[in-house]
Amino acid sequence: MTDDQLKALIRTVPDFPAKGIQFRDITTLLADGEGLAACIDRLTDLARPLNVQAIAGIEARGFIFGTALAMHLGTGFIPMRKAGKLPVPCLEQSYALEYGEAVLELDPTIVAADQHVLVVDDLLATGGTALAAAKLLRKAGARVEHALFAVDLPELGGAAALASAGVKTHALLA
Ligand code: PRP
Ligand code: HPA
Repeated sequence: MTDDQLKALIRTVPDFPAKGIQFRDITTLLADGEGLAACIDRLTDLARPLNVQAIAGIEARGFIFGTALAMHLGTGFIPMRKAGKLPVPCLEQSYALEYGEAVLELDPTIVAADQHVLVVDDLLATGGTALAAAKLLRKAGARVEHALFAVDLPELGGAAALASAGVKTHALLA
């Protein structure tokens, strides 16, 4: 499946969740069996050479791609959770989104010292979310050098924001 065929499976919704935002909605890609498989296979090809020891997926849509990738690579999966979900003491990091504010949380006891971790999410916009995930993982002792996305929206500057924190961006589609 070509990049253009994959892109055609992503729906664009104007003015969601706020006026002026062109929301790229992957729901339609997920629902297409061939598209989903192609997407996961190609993300796995991008991730394999990075030789990471674990995948950290960001709630909620990063869980979908991150778990599939972890299974293909044979690594464990670290859930980066939205606030208030974990039943144990956790590290937290607040961040600004393209359309609001949020908090990510991590149980630091599931991260090994110097574990090489790949941050995975469905989409990179401003980079605020992925940066918060990288910061949290580093606070827990992980080594974070790469982040991988199904979609990058380059005009929102996420890759530059991640680069300034020493995280290299990899994306399937732009
Ligand atoms: C979306 C997307 C990324 C983030 C990208 O998640 O899945 O996590 O925004 O934006 P950024 O690069 O500007 O930080 P959202 O917060 O909408 O949550 P969801 O996955 O729970 O729908
Ligand atoms: N689509 C999905 N998630 C997002 C977007 C988008 O366009 N912008 C920021 N998060």
